[in-house]
Amino acid sequence: MHKNRGSVYYGDYLQLGKLLDSQLPLSRKYADVNNGECHDETLFIVVHQVYELWFKQIIHDLNSILKTFSQTFVPESELSSVVQKFSRIKKIQGLLIGQFDVLETMTPMDFLEFRDLLIPASGFQSAQFREIEIKLGLNTSDRQHVDREFFLGRLNEVDRNKLMELESVPSLLKLVEEWLERVPFTNMKNFNFWEEYQKSVEAILHDDEVIIEQNNAHLSEKAKNIQLENLALTRTTFKSLFDVNAHNELIKNKERTLSQKAILNALFIMLYRDESMLALPFQVLTAMMDIDENFTTWRYRHALLAQRMLGTKIGTGGSSGHQYLKRAADNNRVFVDLFNLSTFLIPRSRLPAIPTDVKKQLNFNV
Ligand code: HEM
Repeated sequence: MHKNRGSVYYGDYLQLGKLLDSQLPLSRKYADVNNGECHDETLFIVVHQVYELWFKQIIHDLNSILKTFSQTFVPESELSSVVQKFSRIKKIQGLLIGQFDVLETMTPMDFLEFRDLLIPASGFQSAQFREIEIKLGLNTSDRQHVDREFFLGRLNEVDRNKLMELESVPSLLKLVEEWLERVPFTNMKNFNFWEEYQKSVEAILHDDEVIIEQNNAHLSEKAKNIQLENLALTRTTFKSLFDVNAHNELIKNKERTLSQKAILNALFIMLYRDESMLALPFQVLTAMMDIDENFTTWRYRHALLAQRMLGTKIGTGGSSGHQYLKRAADNNRVFVDLFNLSTFLIPRSRLPAIPTDVKKQLNFNV
């Protein structure tokens, strides 16, 4: 218990004077030329401010997660705290997605009453939103369809410098990649897991080939050949896991991000998630996918909101509006490699058994 250091007053502690005095509708300021204050501009401001407050909390939790992963050794006890912080971020994201419902009680006509007063300001300039993106692992240079200059040019100097500086600090994606690379369990004395795994995959693909060849009496020769071609593609995809050149080619083409070692170790965690010592690393990877998915859902929801409010009009920040936002939702993903690991999952019954002595050697405190 902390010693009582004097009386605390609710409004002072929460700085409500500042907080509640921070809604200043432009339509009030320009009421004389704008036919009076627009009732819904207060809602517009409050909703944006609430978003920014939640962004602040996300950054606060993200900073703590980044600190944990910055260590060269991440103790298991700290991993549970990471999982707990990820769960909080996920809950907040739920609110962020749900909050659009409140904003959509404002009709497009009501928005039009004050929209022009906002130009050229836009959520495009939300420095905290960009900070979250960058800290997760989405650098401005990774962005598709947006000229970096266009993007950075819309920020003031302070925000621009801060964000560019953040880009030089390792992101969550980078730190988790390094953490995954340090995971020691896939190549141990007397047990080369990947050799065993490849044998299982080969057997599964062979079974598939037999099914296509023999059990598809109703299929035409052409349809069979298409299926066999697809199977050959699956084989190539599996090979790319183990062929460092193929892997590097995918990285060069921006089809993969994580290093081969990190991907293989992440796959091992996914495959053997039922082992108690892999439960926490599995929860970490799952939480990162959840967060990526929630941001994508937020982006689609926001793109729909923009379409509902603007139709095909351009945004106040000068982008193509709904079209730009939809493309950003499709492309601005961070942990896609983890989603794509599902390609390489195989049924539990075909998993190579981990020898008991190997299980004992495993030390998952990485
Ligand atoms: C009437 C409501 C809204 C409309 C019509 C709208 C529209 C747009 C448009 C058209 C853009 C693209 C950039 C531009 O040309 O301006 C944009 C970007 C953005 N908006 Fe909104 N927005 C609305 C509400 C919000 C709210 C409540 C937030 C919460 C903070 C928000 C956050 C953002 C962010 C972060 C971006 C950048 C997205 C990216 O580049 O991926 N917007 N908005």
